[in-house]
Parts: sequence; C-alpha cells; structure tokens
Amino acid sequence: MTSQPDRVIIFDTTLRDGEQSPGASLNGEEKLAIARQLARLGVDVIEAGFPFASPGDFEAVQNIANLVGTPDGPTICGLARATKKDIDAAGKALKPAAKGRIHTFIATSDIHLQYKLRKSRKEVVVIAEDMVAHAKTYTHDVEFSPEDAGRSDPEFLYEVLERVIAAGATTVNIPDTVGYTTPDEFGRIIRGIKENVPNIDQAIISVHGHNDLGLAVANFLAAVQNGARQLECTINGIGERAGNASLEELVMALHVRRSFYNPFFGKPEGAEDPLSNINLEEIYKTSRMVSNMTGMLVQPNKAIVGANAFSHESGIHQDGMLKNKLTYEIVDAATIGRTENNIVLGKLSGRNAFATRLRQLGFELSDTDLNKAFLRFKEVADKKREITDRDLEAIVNDEIRQVPESFRLEMVQVSCGNPSAPTATVTLRLPDGSEKTDAAVGTGPVDAVYQAVSRIVDIPNELIEFSVQSVTKGIDAMGEVTIRLRHDEGVFAGHSADTDIVVASAYAYIAALNRLYVAIAAEASAEMEKAPAVAL
Ligand code: KIV
Ligand code: ZN
Repeated sequence: MTSQPDRVIIFDTTLRDGEQSPGASLNGEEKLAIARQLARLGVDVIEAGFPFASPGDFEAVQNIANLVGTPDGPTICGLARATKKDIDAAGKALKPAAKGRIHTFIATSDIHLQYKLRKSRKEVVVIAEDMVAHAKTYTHDVEFSPEDAGRSDPEFLYEVLERVIAAGATTVNIPDTVGYTTPDEFGRIIRGIKENVPNIDQAIISVHGHNDLGLAVANFLAAVQNGARQLECTINGIGERAGNASLEELVMALHVRRSFYNPFFGKPEGAEDPLSNINLEEIYKTSRMVSNMTGMLVQPNKAIVGANAFSHESGIHQDGMLKNKLTYEIVDAATIGRTENNIVLGKLSGRNAFATRLRQLGFELSDTDLNKAFLRFKEVADKKREITDRDLEAIVNDEIRQVPESFRLEMVQVSCGNPSAPTATVTLRLPDGSEKTDAAVGTGPVDAVYQAVSRIVDIPNELIEFSVQSVTKGIDAMGEVTIRLRHDEGVFAGHSADTDIVVASAYAYIAALNRLYVAIAAEASAEMEKAPAVAL
C-alpha cells in the first residue's frame, strides 16, 4: 500500500506540455533557468521534457537531472511513449537525477485506438503493462498515463490501471487530453477509479487536463475532492492548444479555500498546515520568468498573475478597499511575491547593487552574462531615469536568453511622420560574416523595418503575431515586443525590450528569424543523418 500524502503533489509540466505551446520553444539554458526557479518555487516533480524527441531535448533533460535533480531537490521526470526506444532514452537522460521518474503513456479511448494507434484494447493493455515493467528496470518511480482517459470507456480504464499498477506503476495519471470533461464528470471518473480498481491503494492518483472549455482548474479541484493527490499543471497555464491547468490558480485555490478543502484530506476545517509544498511568494517571479522566456504573454485579467488581478478600478471598490481591504480582496498580492519594490536603480547604481537586486529577483547569472546585462542596464539607464524590477527582468531576459545570433542587427534607422512614407534602412550581419544593408517603405515604421529585414533575409515566413506591451508606466517606459512568425518548420517567437519600440521590434523580429534559422539548420542535419522525426 502506498501512503497517500495529506497534501497535493505538484507536478509541473511547463517544460514539457507547456513547451508544446506554439512558438514557446526554449533553448537548453532557458530550460535550466526555469527548472532552477521551479525548484525554488517548491514543485515536487519537474517534467523536464521528452528525451527521445530530439538530441536537444535529451540533453536538456539530462542537464536538469544533473544540476537540479539533487537529493534535496525535486524529482525529475521524462516523458516517453510506451515504446522501448522512448523509455530507454528517458532512462538514460534521467540517470544523473537523485530522484528520477519515467512517465510513459498510451491512449485508451476507442477513438484514439481506432484512428491513431490502430490497435485493439487487448494489444494496448499488453503494451502498457510491458512498458511499465520495462521502465521499472531504470527507476522504481514510474508514472503511467492512459491518454484521453476523459473519453475512455471506464471499464477498460479500470482494467488498464489495475494491470499497470500490478506491473509496478507508482503513479497513475488521468489525462483529460482534449479538455472535454466537466467538473462533475471528472470527479466521478476519479471516484470510479478509486472504487473499481482493486489495487489502487498501491499508487497515487494524478490528474492532467487541458483547458479547451476553460474548465481545467475546476476539473482538478473536483478530482482532489474525489481522491486525486497529484496535480499536473503549468506556470501561467501554458500548454498544448488552450493550455493546461494553471499551477498558480490551483495552488492559490487550495490555499485561500483551505478550510473548504481540508476535510477532503481528512483534516479538520480549521487546520492551518498548507495543502501544497509551494513557496507562495515565488509564484509571481516564476510567472514573469516563464512569460518572458517563452514569449507567451499573460492576459491582463488572468487570475493571480495577470496585470489587473489586484487592481481596483471602480470608485465603489476603491472606497471599500480604503475602508478595509477585505471588502474586495481575497488574496494579498504580497502573498505571491507581488510587492512594489521601492529600491529603484538608476544610472548611478553600481554593478554590485545591480547584481544584488538580480539575485533577489532570482536570476543567477554567470560573470559573462552579468557583464552583458550590466552594460545593457547602463544603456537603458541613460535613457530612462528609474529602472524598476520589471525593467530589470526585461533587460536580463533580453540579454541572456539569446539564440545564436546567425543574423545580427548592426543598424536600424527609420524616418516617418505626416505627411511622409515610413521608410526604414537596416544593416544586418549575415551568418557568413558579411554585412548587408537595404531599405524599404512600409505602412508604418515597424512594418518598414520588417520589410527591410525581409529583403535582406531571404527566408519566407508569415508574421502571425506582433504585440507591444509597456514594461512599466510612464512616458519613458520600455516597450516589450513579442513577435511570432510561421514557417514550414513551425512557429517561432522573438522577444525584445527597449525604450524605442521600433528598435525593440527589429531585435524581436531578428530573434525569431534566428530561432527559425537554427531549426532549418537542425532539420537539414537531421535529414542528412536520417534521424527519426517524433511527434506527440
Ligand atoms: O494531454 C495529455 O494527454 C498528455 C499526456 C502525455 C499525459 O500530455
Ligand atoms: Zn497534455
């Protein structure tokens, strides 16, 4: 019998399912930085990637297993389809982790069996139990997911779960892969599993769910009420299609409504001990880091971490807040680390103050990166009197999270006005080291820059997203630009921040092109080596 925890286990899949968001791909360094922050946040398990998917994924999981998977750190998990090759890759990548978990999965819904797998139920049960047994040869900690469980026949689900638990699965994860179930239904699925799988007390029940109908968090909370004890979630709810259940919403629901949820954990209503191991004050910082690194903006009205989540606009609300905060506020922003920091850096601040503040914000930079970031800080401080924490985040993310600069912006000049045709002149350094200058007219200054860059970089692509956000308030605020472009190889994001949004736009566009260029080069070398293509 596996002892059931008296709190939830938080399994973070930002680096695996979250990274499956279109255009959210991260390089190895970025993944490591996020994994380190997830460890500070206190997640129990980090799903670090899908090692068989590509050599880059393998290396990233191995690196995280090595550097973050310390004895007192989180469990590091790798995803594997129910095949020997996938499981072997995960087993090898996870070897350096003090606590490593293999997460293997195969679909169980009839629609997936018939159209995707073209296998019978009998075949799927045998594959599932064999592959769990194979994963056990690498680690005792094996998680099994019956993909599309939300639409699977419950009787078949019970049979598969019983067999994989008998084969050694220590966690059985129930995915609502297509975000189809409602909270009542999802709760009933979990209760059904508890009541009908005879050996269920030998495993932890986990849940994984997508947000296609906006119900993922509600579904998970219903699952908790019915016995689920592991929640698979992502920071800011990023992930495939409409995303995954959001970590910060789940954790804060269990925190703020502890007295409601306590009895489902066998505790008295008034018990004070936390229902998760998360360090709440790290939530906001983690959210910002993931948003900056993936280029996935957080909608302003997003619960807990959105820009407006703690702003009160209406006069009636403001009046109530002044009289007593409890009238309109159920969470103190400081609980999740959303404090207005009054230490503001400026152009006279030294390297030490800069480095100290960055450390306090959770950035641990190498000396080279710190020097680069400090130079950039000085440049920005020359134009902007006060540099806030948000500015610092933007600067560091901009300077540090660089893809190799195959194309490099050497010069951008724009002329515009009224009446005048917006015209941009751009000089780029090309991958072969040469320089090229071109000019173009556009509908506006940003479009002119985009056209001029496109004349130099001959890689066809479609601009599918262009967004500008002000980092802070004020006329001298930095603008953060996020660009997404589409090419046959997929969607590629670029992100940059500057006090001049035309310059930020140029850098963001070139960052996206550099990511695309790396993907094209990787594809070309994979073609040459005839590496197998893998898709979930
Ligand atoms: O959504 C899903 O079903 C998944 C599985 C791999 C767990 O991501
Ligand atoms: Zn998923």
